[in-house]
Amino acid sequence: MIQSAKNPLSQRRVTGLTGGIRECGTALEDIVSITTGDFRSKITSTTLWEKKQKHEPITCLTAYDYASARLVDEAGIDIVLVGDSLGMVMLGYENTLPVTVEEMLHHTRAVRRGVKRAFLVTDMPFASYHVSGKETVRNAARFIKAGAEAVKIEGGEKRAQLVERLVDAEIPVVGHIGLTPQSVHAMGGYKVQGKSLNAIEQLMHDALALERCGACSVVLEGIPREVAELITHEIDIPTIGIGAGPDCDGQVLVFHDILGLTFAPPAKFVRRYADLGAVITTALQEFKTDVKTGSYPADAESYHLPKETLATLHDIAERKRAMSL
Ligand code: KIV
Repeated sequence: MIQSAKNPLSQRRVTGLTGGIRECGTALEDIVSITTGDFRSKITSTTLWEKKQKHEPITCLTAYDYASARLVDEAGIDIVLVGDSLGMVMLGYENTLPVTVEEMLHHTRAVRRGVKRAFLVTDMPFASYHVSGKETVRNAARFIKAGAEAVKIEGGEKRAQLVERLVDAEIPVVGHIGLTPQSVHAMGGYKVQGKSLNAIEQLMHDALALERCGACSVVLEGIPREVAELITHEIDIPTIGIGAGPDCDGQVLVFHDILGLTFAPPAKFVRRYADLGAVITTALQEFKTDVKTGSYPADAESYHLPKETLATLHDIAERKRAMSL
């Protein structure tokens, strides 16, 4: 059937680490201070690739602002994705299509300030990589300048040249195939992809093309687990699944979905770890009641004047009252 094309990027890494620097005795990061942070625990595209080789599951969650980014990063999640799903869960759009480069940049900067360890990936929004190669590189470079460490683009084989161009410009790329939400109109809705033999073959071509062109990872969304498993075995770069079963190298979910912060019933693949929507609603209602009944704020929640100032204030008030009699 389809031949496996080994990722040139990953092969370079193997030679570089085992045949080069490491064989000399000391890893480069042990002898050179490259960053001011703890360089060794930082997740990079190389760490992700190594995790695949060691069959160590990769974790990925979306985050869209400083607070959520800090929580995700401090929980030890490997990849923080500033997904264009922010258009729906943060901005209330019906789908991801209206999201702009400026909106993605705004959220990427906020997330950057909250992330220290995780690998930070930003989605390129619809139409930011569809017009020309030149414009794609220019837009992608803006995301890197805003703090992203890789950009994610949707599509497989047909994006191969673009991926190559971005990688040439030193911009790491994460691919995204299967159910690609930016193609919602072309797909005729959000439907599971890769169900026929032809579709499976195309998905395999897509994954191999992304690997060949230097993508550092690929998101597999909304495809049968058997197909995700095939692709995961066939390519050397890590696969990160969402609605693609347990055999991918890693899993990604949307922050708001797993915490119960969305307003529609969750998709089949979503596991809810908390119902923060209900927690927040109860807290808001309690605040409303406390203000209406006068129980908030209490004296202990108020600032007070120093004793001497208060005494002087009382004296003045007393004198004024006496004078008016
Ligand atoms: O936009 C997004 O959140 C995504 C993932 C869920 C893969 O693309």
